[in-house]
Amino acid sequence: MHSCNMGRRMLIALSAMLLATGATASHPSCPATPPDTGTTLQVSHAFGPCSPLGPEAAAPSWTGFLADQAARDASRLLYLDSLAVGGRAYAPIASGRQLLQTPTYVVRARLGTPPQQLLLAVDTSNDAAWIPCSGCAGCPTSTPFNPAASTSYRLVPCGSPLCTQAPNSACPLNSKTCGFSLTYADSLLQAALSQDSLAVANDVVKTYTFGCLQRATGTAAPPQGLLGLGRGTLSFLSQTKDMYEATFSYCLPSFKSLNFSGTLRLGRKGQPQRIKTTPLLANPHRSSLYYVNMTGIRVGKKVVPIPPSALAFDPATGAGTVLDSGTMFTLLVAPAYEAVRDEVRHRVRAPVSSLGGFDTCFNTTVAWPPVTLLFDGMQVTLPEENVVIHSTYGTTGCLAMAAAPKGVNTVLNVIASMQQQNHRVLFDVPNRRVGFARERCTAA
Ligand SMILES: *[C@@H]1O[C@H](CO)[C@@H](O)[C@H](O)[C@H]1NC(C)=O
Ligand SMILES: *[C@@H]1O[C@H](CO)[C@@H](O)[C@H](O)[C@H]1NC(C)=O
Ligand SMILES: *[C@@H]1O[C@H](CO)[C@@H](O)[C@H](O)[C@H]1NC(C)=O
Repeated sequence: MHSCNMGRRMLIALSAMLLATGATASHPSCPATPPDTGTTLQVSHAFGPCSPLGPEAAAPSWTGFLADQAARDASRLLYLDSLAVGGRAYAPIASGRQLLQTPTYVVRARLGTPPQQLLLAVDTSNDAAWIPCSGCAGCPTSTPFNPAASTSYRLVPCGSPLCTQAPNSACPLNSKTCGFSLTYADSLLQAALSQDSLAVANDVVKTYTFGCLQRATGTAAPPQGLLGLGRGTLSFLSQTKDMYEATFSYCLPSFKSLNFSGTLRLGRKGQPQRIKTTPLLANPHRSSLYYVNMTGIRVGKKVVPIPPSALAFDPATGAGTVLDSGTMFTLLVAPAYEAVRDEVRHRVRAPVSSLGGFDTCFNTTVAWPPVTLLFDGMQVTLPEENVVIHSTYGTTGCLAMAAAPKGVNTVLNVIASMQQQNHRVLFDVPNRRVGFARERCTAA
């Protein structure tokens, strides 16, 4: 029997809440994020002017932001590619703020009893849910989850079948509880497999299994928790199958937006009935990634010449196209990117320059052609806001896509969040399909 020190527990819960609210101070003209209702969560951009992570998360300058984001995306691509091919390890390609699990969009959740507020990154390419916990050595977070302050917190015992599902799980001799770890490039994450009650919007997941982060070395530590929306066994989606039937959709707001916020809608209820869809492809080796069959790309009316091998799905090599919420700018294998870029330049016919990892920028106002992504059974025509990243002042705009970084032989095309924003994107796992529909992400 442990003594129940209510006063201390409440104090801890209260300070965790204060810390969490303290981190929500942002731009003075930002409206308060509307409440989460029903099965719908509000989604905020982690680096926008209204970031709930606070003003320090917002971009210092436009060019600084582009450079930072291009580096983050490149590092994310290597991570996704390593998932796709099964453990191929890359050295990190740049130093500094390279995070393995970069949050691009975050939602609110409450963990434990009494509930502690958390921000969780929406990550469609991960299964494991990591939550930075109090006392974690090396976790870059100011608002960890405090298991000692939750009466419903449990460690998962070694004998549990859950333990074998966790990546690299281990039961150290002096411990009866299940630990697991992830190593990537120069980084190591260690967590205790844990269970607690997780509340999202109006729902409660009573025994939610997650990794309580205890140690992080290198540069991979996530600054806040992760909501793993991948398709694998331990993901949030798999754990809530009875509630949400492995179905969700989101509308991701523009990162510049002050007035709009997006939503993450869980379950079948309220999902669009009429929506264009394309089949989801299954890669048995990498079950967490959402592969789709992109068959071509049109710039204006012209289908650009891309060798079929640059787009082909191949479970053995991991090649193909995935949708990812954690990458910001679409990354294509070199022959695909070059074909798109050349046609955009050809159509715009103005002097071209480079900026922070983007090689197709124009300093004057130009007419940008729309870009259409061609999928098996579905076409998605992207208007300028999904194709061009504009400077906050002045007239410079850049094609918001890039080739995989030079010198690394990645095989994945990643359709990223900038190209998905202001669309309702439906992930319907039971019916093996992904849908797209234009939608302004207005606040509820
Ligand atoms: C937000 O809305 C206000 C009032 O409608 C408007 O003045 C402001 O320009 C808008 N800001 C953005 C970034 O759209
Ligand atoms: C565009 O502007 C940038 C920054 O002012 C400058 O470095 C670049 O040379 C300009 N490019 C063209 C084509 O004028
Ligand atoms: C992708 O779509 C094309 C065109 O519909 C089809 O020929 C091809 O078999 C599809 N590939 C896969 C892996 O489904």
